[in-house]
Amino acid sequence: MNSTRKTGPGSVLRVFQSKDQTRAFYNKISRVYDLLSERSEAPMRRAGLELLRTRAGESVLEIGCGTGHSLVALAKAIGPEGTVFGLDLSDKMLQRAKASLAKFKLLERARLRCADATELPYDANSMDAVFMSFTLELFDTPEIPKVLRECKRVLRPGGRIVVVGMSKDAKHDPLVGAFEWTHEHFPNFLDCRPIYVRRALEKAGFKIESALMKHMWIPVEIVRGAKVP
Ligand SMILES: C[S@@+](CC[C@H](N)C(=O)[O-])C[C@H]1O[C@@H](n2cnc3c(N)ncnc32)[C@H](O)[C@@H]1O
Repeated sequence: MNSTRKTGPGSVLRVFQSKDQTRAFYNKISRVYDLLSERSEAPMRRAGLELLRTRAGESVLEIGCGTGHSLVALAKAIGPEGTVFGLDLSDKMLQRAKASLAKFKLLERARLRCADATELPYDANSMDAVFMSFTLELFDTPEIPKVLRECKRVLRPGGRIVVVGMSKDAKHDPLVGAFEWTHEHFPNFLDCRPIYVRRALEKAGFKIESALMKHMWIPVEIVRGAKVP
């Protein structure tokens, strides 16, 4: 078993899953992902989308779009003049996202890509907004700033980012400890762990515009940042 030991008090645990392992995991669970997570995660995602305040005609990127719930909401919000870009490492999750968009007749507003978010296949300054839910906490600790640097690169000056993620920033929450214990001992079963969402965005140089702390069965941070021109 890989070691996910803490590097100091309060530190975020490491993640040692390879990209192939991550892809295989999400390909395997793509059919049941919504059954496993929708009830708890949907209200958090909705709160994140509200904070993003997407406007008609915008170009919006969702990283780790999964089965496509947020892509559908974003595609509705941008209208026929806008474009929503969905990126995911798992081709099977993307297939489900594509089917969701097709069901709502929104496919023509969307561009889907199977790729790794540590190297975004988009031009600099090309996006008005970036959205990420329950995805940043899947990246290993040194990769988090890399992903956020990529987000900053593709955002236009003044562009905004909203990240919804499981939070370690809640003192003495026993479920955070239990979650971390499970991740440490069964990393193949629990591939992610709570992180400091707001701090990660601040460190990446985003101007924090709004930050909420919510609770599903574990604390969740919903943070909006802006790329300062
Ligand atoms: C926990 S799911 C969340 C899905 C969706 N955002 C939601 O809220 O329902 C994480 C998603 O991130 C994708 N993912 C994991 N690692 C990735 C990477 N390196 N690059 C892009 N997507 C990744 C997974 O395939 C999966 O679809």
